[in-house]
Amino acid sequence: MKDKKVILITGTSKGIGKYLAEYYCSKGHTVTGCSRKESEIKNENYSHFSLDVTDEEKVKELFLHIRKNQPGLDVLINNAGIASMNHVMLTPLETVKKILGTNFTGTFLFCREAAKLMRKNNSGRIINFSSVASDLAVEGEAIYASSKSAVVTFTKVLSKELSSMGITVNSIGITPVNTDLIKNVPAGKIDNLLEMLTIKRLAELEDISNVTDFLIREESRFITGQNINLGGV
Ligand SMILES: NC(=O)c1ccc[n+]([C@@H]2O[C@H](COP(=O)([O-])OP(=O)(O)OC[C@H]3O[C@@H](n4cnc5c(N)ncnc54)[C@H](OP(=O)(O)O)[C@@H]3O)[C@@H](O)[C@H]2O)c1
Repeated sequence: MKDKKVILITGTSKGIGKYLAEYYCSKGHTVTGCSRKESEIKNENYSHFSLDVTDEEKVKELFLHIRKNQPGLDVLINNAGIASMNHVMLTPLETVKKILGTNFTGTFLFCREAAKLMRKNNSGRIINFSSVASDLAVEGEAIYASSKSAVVTFTKVLSKELSSMGITVNSIGITPVNTDLIKNVPAGKIDNLLEMLTIKRLAELEDISNVTDFLIREESRFITGQNINLGGV
């Protein structure tokens, strides 16, 4: 894999995705990002698409743009995601559709289109974002945790389907990190979750880029189908 890579990251208007987009731009990589809102990232290496990750036509347009303007696609980071805490008995169907749509269907669409581009160069790295909420079976997060379990299973199956094309597929189980995603979760609930981890603290953004850096390294070509949980689960 080349030193300067073409990287696609979903959900770059804020939070972890914005951090990763700026981080990889600052290292000289070419980064394409997307989110429903516009991006504030001002960097010559960055271009932004305003789209909903569940909108198949818009997603295809984005990939057509990369196909026409870049030599290929080296890395996809499926970061876009939403969460909502509620007891199952109080959860509206619409919430279930939205969470599964963004977290699972969006990940599926981007993986499918990325694989078509990556196979051209017989190499690529796909990194999906899961959550420790799945393995920890956190109460109140049944739908969110299930959507991320689906991402983990999808990652494992996809890794097998794409291995002959030189593409690795792994996921990172993120622990709580201070972004808008958890700003409305009561502090006590976050503390309870942190208590369930081996290393009982919030994640830093650098803890996440450390793992994405690792998975993107040329030397990580023999690692696929794995879910790497942060924090020790
Ligand atoms: N923060 C945590 O504690 C934590 C813990 C475990 C896992 N994670 C995972 O880490 C990832 C990033 O989370 P975060 O904390 O950075 O969340 P965040 O600050 O809320 O940011 C989420 C990003 O995803 C985008 N997004 C959401 N729905 C979208 C859609 N339908 N189409 C396109 N973009 C969409 C948002 O942009 P727009 O609103 O502009 O569309 C935003 O840029 C998620 O997959 C999340 O599940 C986070």
